[in-house]
Amino acid sequence: MVFCVEVFGWGIMVVMGAKLLFNCYDFFYATYLAAALGHNLVPKIKQFGSWAVVTGATDGIGKAYAQQLAALGLNIVLVSRSPVKLKQVSDEISRQNRAIQILTVAVDFTDGNAIYPKLKKELSHLFGQIGILVNNVGMKLPTCQIADVPSGDQFNEIINCNVMSMVRLTNMLLPAMRKKKRGLIINIGSLAGTGFAPMRTTYGATKAFVDKFSCDLAAEYRSDGIVVQSILPGYVATKLPGLSGKSSFDVPTAKTYVEAALLRSLGVETRTSAYWFHKILLYWTEFLYFFVPNLVQKLTVSIIGRKAQMANLQTRM
Ligand SMILES: NC(=O)c1ccc[n+]([C@@H]2O[C@H](COP(=O)([O-])OP(=O)(O)OC[C@H]3O[C@@H](n4cnc5c(N)ncnc54)[C@H](OP(=O)(O)O)[C@@H]3O)[C@@H](O)[C@H]2O)c1
Repeated sequence: MVFCVEVFGWGIMVVMGAKLLFNCYDFFYATYLAAALGHNLVPKIKQFGSWAVVTGATDGIGKAYAQQLAALGLNIVLVSRSPVKLKQVSDEISRQNRAIQILTVAVDFTDGNAIYPKLKKELSHLFGQIGILVNNVGMKLPTCQIADVPSGDQFNEIINCNVMSMVRLTNMLLPAMRKKKRGLIINIGSLAGTGFAPMRTTYGATKAFVDKFSCDLAAEYRSDGIVVQSILPGYVATKLPGLSGKSSFDVPTAKTYVEAALLRSLGVETRTSAYWFHKILLYWTEFLYFFVPNLVQKLTVSIIGRKAQMANLQTRM
């Protein structure tokens, strides 16, 4: 009997050891090695089409995607809400990449259905040439309990901006991609969409939608030659989380983040946090949620609740 228990114990240790080794190799391969060996999609990116559309392209992660796609030689459609910022970013990218063309479209994604005829009109002459869509635009609500959100309109706005923009643009551009049997759709979710997001429930739920939609779409369109990627960032040093200019090893700049996501993970991982530290966070978050969900729920509520209280006190002072 003792012998059987001993063999069983060793068996479990061996399986867990092998799994750990495989996870370490997988992490290293997907994060660094695949790109170094040319197993990612960057060398073939122009085969998807000569134009890329990026939403929320005048700041943060979206701007970094636009800059890095332009540097790879793609023509870019910048979609954002401020015409002044669109002109600035367009000029900046043009100066750095003389050979490419840039189109700007000013729309406010919180406006809902009304903006899509305009977007369709502006983009329709490029439908056959658009190979890449980066659904990046996103907003958040104040970190507080849902009962304390002052205006109900804000829920329409965040759902229009974070969810509807992605679904409608995907629906608009996919038919031409499917016809060509080539296309690349990158959807920017968040780590907040993968576990508990107390005090940020609506934001977290919109990002969970992005992740689920992307993974299902990836499966549905794989045989049509269309690659869909779900990107799940942790904190990135941008305006949205109030961290502009505050980068550190765990909070990368948008440029560093997009280098990891676009230049290294594209074509290697369908669902990823891309940047090494955020990948470790995703792994442990999902691991702990699986084994001790109640403990994690209590801890997140108390940590985020305390942070939100502090922030509220500071804004009142
Ligand atoms: N930064 C993070 O820590 C983090 C973490 C996880 C996920 N994300 C996700 O990453 C994406 C990009 O975030 P970010 O941090 O790069 O944000 P950001 O720096 O605030 O930039 C957002 C971009 O979207 C545009 N935009 C915002 N609301 C818009 C609207 N209603 N209509 C049209 N354009 C609008 C902004 O235009 P203006 O310049 O005119 O404001 C800007 O170009 C979002 O989906 C976000 O949820 C970010």
